[in-house]
Amino acid sequence: MHLIINNINAINDPYAKDFLKVAFSSLLRSVSNSKSGFGNLMINKQPAPKERIFERFSLATARMLRNANDFSKAASNSDVKVLNGDSRNISFIEDNSVDLICTHPPYMAAVPYVEYQRLSLWWLGYDLSYLEDNMIGGRRSRPDTPQRFFRDMNRALLEMKRVLRNKKYCCITIGNPTHRGKMWELNQIIKRYAVDAGFTFIKEIRRGKYHSTMGKMKEEFVLILRKE
Ligand SMILES: C[S@@+](CC[C@H](N)C(=O)[O-])C[C@H]1O[C@@H](n2cnc3c(N)ncnc32)[C@H](O)[C@@H]1O
Repeated sequence: MHLIINNINAINDPYAKDFLKVAFSSLLRSVSNSKSGFGNLMINKQPAPKERIFERFSLATARMLRNANDFSKAASNSDVKVLNGDSRNISFIEDNSVDLICTHPPYMAAVPYVEYQRLSLWWLGYDLSYLEDNMIGGRRSRPDTPQRFFRDMNRALLEMKRVLRNKKYCCITIGNPTHRGKMWELNQIIKRYAVDAGFTFIKEIRRGKYHSTMGKMKEEFVLILRKE
């Protein structure tokens, strides 16, 4: 794996480099001795299956190329741009310029995003501690997790309100997690923050026990908001 990632890192074209890193990342679980079937990283005592790694890397790359090709054909009549940014500061998007927002923010305290991706993040050279500190809902078991989450979601809501056009809608998927023994009704809390940010609340759709396997979240909701 070192040979593959070192060669990828030596590529100059940033797009090709990122593309190959995704293919590389998709293989890591299956060629390491982490147990499959678990979100978080659990180590197997059996040695890692090291056979056909180059072949599997090239198959993963070919599959991604096919998918990218299909996507570009499907999107050929539209102007699709994928922008990467932090939802708390999307200053690269103009005021009143967006027709619809559909967003799925992190599940406060319920899903350990950095832990789930630890293997890939480590191989790709990310600073795990920095990510935990800076992503919305990171450091999920600390006493101040809810306060940090609300502060960050408030920033994101103000940005969404800024970029949305008048009379247009914003749809937010949100779950109600348990943090340190207390259930947090995020559907109610985020609704209040959204109204304070200037949105009109239109309706709430209940999605039921969508994430019950997480054990920490019993229900999930989609909040529909409008900017007047
Ligand atoms: C519930 S998941 C949404 C997953 C998404 N529906 C998908 O299919 O990829 C929440 C995502 O928000 C990301 N996230 C955390 N902090 C963020 C931030 N400040 N800005 C944008 N996204 C963030 C997390 O990394 C995670 O991938």
